[in-house]
Amino acid sequence: MKKVLITGGAGFIGSHVVRLFVNKYPDYHIFNLDALTYAGNLENIEDIEDKPNYTFVKADINDEKAMLNLFEKEAFDGVIHLAAESHVDRSIEDPLAFLKTNIMGTVNLLNAARKTWKNFDDKLFYHISTDEVYGSLGETGFFLETTSYDPKSPYSASKASSDHFVRAYQNTYGMPVVISNCSNNYGPNQFPEKLIPLCINNIQNNRPLPIYGKGENIRDWLYVVDHARAIDVIFHSGRVGETYNIGGFNEWSNIDLVKELCKVMDEKLGRPKGTSEKLITYVTDRAGHDLRYAIDATKIKDELGWEPSLQFEEGLRKTVDWYLENEAWLKNITSGDYQNYYNKLYQDR
Ligand code: NAD
Ligand code: DAU
Repeated sequence: MKKVLITGGAGFIGSHVVRLFVNKYPDYHIFNLDALTYAGNLENIEDIEDKPNYTFVKADINDEKAMLNLFEKEAFDGVIHLAAESHVDRSIEDPLAFLKTNIMGTVNLLNAARKTWKNFDDKLFYHISTDEVYGSLGETGFFLETTSYDPKSPYSASKASSDHFVRAYQNTYGMPVVISNCSNNYGPNQFPEKLIPLCINNIQNNRPLPIYGKGENIRDWLYVVDHARAIDVIFHSGRVGETYNIGGFNEWSNIDLVKELCKVMDEKLGRPKGTSEKLITYVTDRAGHDLRYAIDATKIKDELGWEPSLQFEEGLRKTVDWYLENEAWLKNITSGDYQNYYNKLYQDR
């Protein structure tokens, strides 16, 4: 039986990765390690919590002793590392939190693996990263695996740094590593601080839809389950030491995307056409707002045969359906500190 450690599995993407691995590989034992920060939510994975090949571990990746003990005890065959502070706006408010978890936490995890893995035979440390490490594109061009790093926000600087450490551990200690850099994910279970679920929640509550700047910034959107499928393929078939870009060839300006979402929401909520669009409100831009991200995902397609399975329009509808069917989830997650966060971030904009 293979033992696989997945970090951040109570978060958005991690929960979909954990579900896929637990269900698809009954002969693996999946350990989900998560500190349950504001972004971690065990409700995301309650459907698999009783499976015999699943164990949840509540721990902080910064806890040196806990990581060493766990790696010593379980002798994992592989690690898929997703735990991170993930929101750009929060990184602008509190860069140190991103340095601690994304850089120090990753190095702490790498150390636990390096110190406890007797040898590196058949081991793999798979680090999940972002396209934001490549910086910002102009109107044309794509990020390739060979594009130079040029991170521009505290979040992307912390992710870039962690990527460098992962590669340094391969170069210095011979640790088998692989990295993937993915574009913007959307889908069920995403915390409503990110654009799509934030707008879904606000439309439901007739609140303004805050569009930063002119809404002309472009992101490349991928359905979260397709990202989880890509992670599965890379974990099992990716070449050690390689980087794989993951993306949907699916670019949308923020304003076009939000207008599309408004149409779907009006239809699903049975509201007259144009109702939700009236909520669109242009607000002060994000500091240092990257203009455009676009991933060239040719390498993963050619080498590993992975392609997105869902068209965006279908994925968006599925996402809206999920949020409308899971009102309790949204209510729970937006109670408590969420309102303070929201008011603080948006009151001055
Ligand atoms: P998320 O914020 O939804 O989830 C992060 C999870 O990590 C949470 O469950 C949280 O509790 C946990 N966590 C945070 N700090 C921790 C710590 N110190 N110790 C243990 N657990 C901790 O994030 P997400 O959007 O699911 O992103 C997951 C990973 O994928 C991140 O590494 C992110 O950089 C990367 N990524 C995200 C996207 C995206 O569009 N969301 C795209 C590309 C890459
Ligand atoms: O590209 C991958 C990255 O995508 C991941 O690494 C990050 O973890 C993830 O958060 C995401 O980063 P973005 O900053 O692109 O996502 P966000 O949903 O915060 O914003 C998407 C775009 O929408 C961005 O251009 C900012 C804009 N925006 C966002 C919010 C929350 C708004 O205009 N209004 C908003 O209220």
